[in-house]
Amino acid sequence: MHHSKSERIVLRRRRAGVIETVPCTVRYLGPDDHAKAAAFHGRIAEEIGDESLFSAENSIRETLGGKGRALAFFDGDRMVCFRSVSYSPSEVEPAVRDLAIPGMEDRVAVMDFCVIDSSFRGNNLQQISYYLMESIVYADNRNIFYTTVSPKNIYSLANVLECGFCIEDLKRKYAGTLRFVLSKHLDVPTQTSTRNHREVPLHDVRAIRGVLDEGYSGYKLRHRSRGMVILFGKPLA
Ligand SMILES: CC(C)(COP(=O)(O)OP(=O)(O)OC[C@H]1O[C@@H](n2cnc3c(N)ncnc32)[C@H](O)[C@@H]1OP(=O)(O)O)[C@@H](O)C(=O)NCCC(=O)NCCS
Repeated sequence: MHHSKSERIVLRRRRAGVIETVPCTVRYLGPDDHAKAAAFHGRIAEEIGDESLFSAENSIRETLGGKGRALAFFDGDRMVCFRSVSYSPSEVEPAVRDLAIPGMEDRVAVMDFCVIDSSFRGNNLQQISYYLMESIVYADNRNIFYTTVSPKNIYSLANVLECGFCIEDLKRKYAGTLRFVLSKHLDVPTQTSTRNHREVPLHDVRAIRGVLDEGYSGYKLRHRSRGMVILFGKPLA
């Protein structure tokens, strides 16, 4: 995707009693997009009440100002999906600590958030926007991607795992709430053994911590008749 030009993409939009296809556009954002991006982000954060999505005003300004990358999809001039990645030390340093990779600050990109208007959910935009972003962040010389996801956010967790991230930890983060810590390494091929994998209920914090302590990492979310489970495998050396 060109860095300043919009690309056209036709998406499905849902509204009461209708599902329709609409021509949309996608492009990378710059400082001039701040007001629209902050307003859209604020609206979705309010709707879902996820603590980690609040007070992002400053981080959006930093990212659009050059300490990261952002892209958005538009229906006409209405923003409907916004994804942001931070290179700011205030976000990268805690990520480097969580991943225990001291000295790698220049290589780490923090996948901050992806927010989508509810009438455009189901277009797989979390994954599509991730892959558009992956290539531009990689071109910026960042090859270790970090993100956190709330165990309550099953839609996001499923998508982040499908994009190739692995669960490395489960810990208390923003305002003391539980978050999965996930990473994806772009330059070092990783292998996780699916033989003898372990299945752990999504909400069994103690059991998840147990398998993580044994050196497993989480690679997939599955529906089972007894509820959602995470599949864990041992990374192969
Ligand atoms: C998480 C999120 C980005 C996923 O959106 P998406 O990429 O459109 O999701 P998918 O295309 O994978 O959706 C798969 C299915 O789940 C449904 N779905 C997705 N998110 C949903 C949600 N929050 N609530 C209910 N259903 C949801 C979709 O409608 C779709 O259903 P369908 O198969 O019947 O069409 C979106 O839900 C969102 O913006 N949530 C609020 C912000 C957030 O939590 N962001 C992630 C953390 S920063």
